[in-house]
Amino acid sequence: MPAKVRKRPSGKERRVPFLLGKRLMLRPLRKEDASGPYLEWFNDSAVCAGNGHHFFPYTAQDALQYIQRAHSSQSELILAIAKRQGDQHIGNIALKRINTISRTAELAIVIGDKNSWGKGYSKEAARLLLDHAFFALNLNRVYCGTFESNQPMRRLARFLCMKEEGRRRQATFKQNRYLDIIEYGVLRREYSLRFGGPP
Ligand SMILES: CC(C)(COP(=O)(O)OP(=O)(O)OC[C@H]1O[C@@H](n2cnc3c(N)ncnc32)[C@H](O)[C@@H]1OP(=O)(O)O)[C@@H](O)C(=O)NCCC(=O)NCCS
Repeated sequence: MPAKVRKRPSGKERRVPFLLGKRLMLRPLRKEDASGPYLEWFNDSAVCAGNGHHFFPYTAQDALQYIQRAHSSQSELILAIAKRQGDQHIGNIALKRINTISRTAELAIVIGDKNSWGKGYSKEAARLLLDHAFFALNLNRVYCGTFESNQPMRRLARFLCMKEEGRRRQATFKQNRYLDIIEYGVLRREYSLRFGGPP
């Protein structure tokens, strides 16, 4: 007979790392994350200055639906970025539109905790996820698009060896101006040349 799963006294779900880095872990999102700091990130115009959020309020219900989707989808891999020490949830990272025929996916990332900006966390998290994308999921191309004004994201894309592949002119409207969206992409061959093969 299978052993009974004991509920933790606190009622909290167990922390289960999925990908481990030096300072960070990427772990599945948990229901309780919806009532954590996560909700504030998408209602913060500074965090959202470089992404497509903050047009309508983001509610706990939205967060819960997103977390549910994260658990059931095969075409998206959505993970929480948390500090290994203390499990502080500082952001989310995802491979979206995973296409197993063309072997492509889109990278999306938010470091929502503003105190964690500029400390190399996005680079560590993205390396973990791209290693997984190329060497576990066997993808061949990872791409992302970002506003021309989003310098940290553009630098992150370049760090990941992504090449600038195109520009969608005035593709978005943010802070009272139209902005171009710059498209970036990296192939597994290019990524492996820069970072080496599977860890
Ligand atoms: C974009 C984002 C993920 C970067 O995360 P981060 O952990 O602060 O970035 P890192 O510290 O890992 O640095 C990544 C690169 O950006 C640079 N950078 C960081 N903050 C910067 C700033 N304020 N201005 C210019 N460059 C900056 C770093 O120097 C580094 O580039 P380098 O390797 O050439 O030195 C984070 O700012 C964020 O989540 N912003 C809000 C949401 C968002 O815009 N997401 C992307 C939507 S496409």
